[in-house]
Amino acid sequence: MVDADGVYCMLTDPIDADLIDGAQRLRAISTMAVGVDNIDLAACRRRGIRVGHTPDVLTNSTADMAWALLMASSRRLVEGVDYIRSGLWERWEPGVLLGHDITGSTLGIIGMGRIGQAVARRSTGFGMPVLYSSRSSVKGIEDDVGAERVGLVDLLARADHVVVAVSLSDDTAGLIGSEAFRVMKPTANLVNISRGPVVDSDALVEALTSGQIRCAGLDVTDPEPIPSDHALMALPNCTIVPHVGSATERTRLSMAQLAADNLVAGLTGDPMPAEVK
Ligand code: DGY
Repeated sequence: MVDADGVYCMLTDPIDADLIDGAQRLRAISTMAVGVDNIDLAACRRRGIRVGHTPDVLTNSTADMAWALLMASSRRLVEGVDYIRSGLWERWEPGVLLGHDITGSTLGIIGMGRIGQAVARRSTGFGMPVLYSSRSSVKGIEDDVGAERVGLVDLLARADHVVVAVSLSDDTAGLIGSEAFRVMKPTANLVNISRGPVVDSDALVEALTSGQIRCAGLDVTDPEPIPSDHALMALPNCTIVPHVGSATERTRLSMAQLAADNLVAGLTGDPMPAEVK
């Protein structure tokens, strides 16, 4: 690493100031991810190191995963599978595994970047009013799906499904914690497809066990990997998958290619196809 001119990294590799200072030849870093919270961007800027990432190519698969989790948790899919596997299904009964409606319910999206917008666009088939909170308004999504920009507290109080699609930063770490859960509906469903630390895990355990919210679907957790004996893993109303939002063959291949192209461009001095500004 000390002799490297370029680094191709994963989201699990911390690229911090010490590592950057210790690599005096370093000119380019390319991460095979859209999120760059693992990289000290300020330290890179000080040294003029260029950073590439992989936006756009993973937008659709990640938005699909948000919807898969939204539906799986609302309609209790994993509980249904477990019910059969544990031999509990003896006859059809009208009150078994009742879930929560998706059609006509209110969707709240925190963060209206590329992925937030793709999540919003997928709601039109379900006749859902869409609320979003974001630093700035996104005209296209307001026009196309009638999304309404509201403050975070308003969103939390009104949404039936809250999708967290904001990137992790000092401002968003712990954004969804005990105060947020106090405001949410007791029937609410929380979906996190961004980064685990945006949601306070201890507060989420409390919210799911005390009935402050109904259920959650998580692609990302804090800690990650989440240990199999973590309190969240024991909760039937929490559906957790191992950070696989972009995990389709086509998307992962595109991410790998884009990250390679970024690195080569960074080292040859050409414009990176996707450089972090
Ligand atoms: C990313 O790219 O940041 C995702 O979390 C992995 O696809």
